[in-house]
Amino acid sequence: MAEPAPLVLVEREPERRIATALLNRPDRLNALNAELMGELADALRSFDDDEDVRCIVIGGSDRAFAAGADIGEMATASAMDMYAAKRIERWDAIRAVRTPIVAAVSGYCLGGGCELAMTCDLIVASESAVFGQPETGLGILPGAGATQRLTHAVGKALAMDVILSGRLLSAREALDAGLVARVVAREAWLDEAKRVAGQIAAKGPVANRLAKEAVNRAYEAPLSLGLDYERRVLYLAFASEDAKEGLSAFVEKRPPEFKGR
Ligand code: CAA
Repeated sequence: MAEPAPLVLVEREPERRIATALLNRPDRLNALNAELMGELADALRSFDDDEDVRCIVIGGSDRAFAAGADIGEMATASAMDMYAAKRIERWDAIRAVRTPIVAAVSGYCLGGGCELAMTCDLIVASESAVFGQPETGLGILPGAGATQRLTHAVGKALAMDVILSGRLLSAREALDAGLVARVVAREAWLDEAKRVAGQIAAKGPVANRLAKEAVNRAYEAPLSLGLDYERRVLYLAFASEDAKEGLSAFVEKRPPEFKGR
């Protein structure tokens, strides 16, 4: 019997030092069931452990990045089922990834899909992308970060509108509101996201990982602690060979050769 198709398609591009994970559940608009999330977490862990991968792209299809958590799977679950299965805790595997992650979003990016995109470090969106948190329409609420991350990204008024009324945001609206970093042509979403990932991958990998940690602190701590944390990881970066290489290369007017150490 033929093997079932993987729910996450994985590709490495050694020249650009990037790796891509594409959600592959087209008949369900990439709804995030436990199996898919498990495959995604495994792929991300393996990329993160690979020194030659310096930026990761997570994408879906033209039609959908992901239309949310799998509603069928949740429909029969009790609170205790959700708690015992540690459904949302699984998402911590994505948060734990130190390598920068670009979300490449085309089409529907809803509910848990939007939360997945927001868990990535930046979002490159097709003009066709549609963002929303429709959970309250299902009688539940976002549980994988949207009440916090969306509010940080777009502010209270718009976050309340999106979460309470189910308002959908176009790619342009999401860009203007600060949810999305770049909007690109409809047919170019994946190529452009990979291009951005390639630019990130060309920078100092240690510096990028530490900078990612420090930016994330801006969400998690008050400003004074965040600034203190930023200063400490900056000092730590000076212990890396990459910092010495990057700084000397600039002074010596040559391109740097980063080793990720
Ligand atoms: N879970 C499971 N199946 C889903 C799904 C989801 N989140 N979203 C879509 N599907 C399925 C549909 O049931 C449909 O299956 P069938 O062909 O067997 O009927 C298939 O994918 C295609 O979808 P549609 O026929 O509905 O496509 P459409 O173009 O008419 O509509 C849509 C697209 C507006 C995105 C619509 O599918 C929709 O509203 N989906 C649900 C969106 C949603 O509410 N997401 C939030 C989920 S809850 C959550 O994410 C919780 C959390 O925070 C952790």
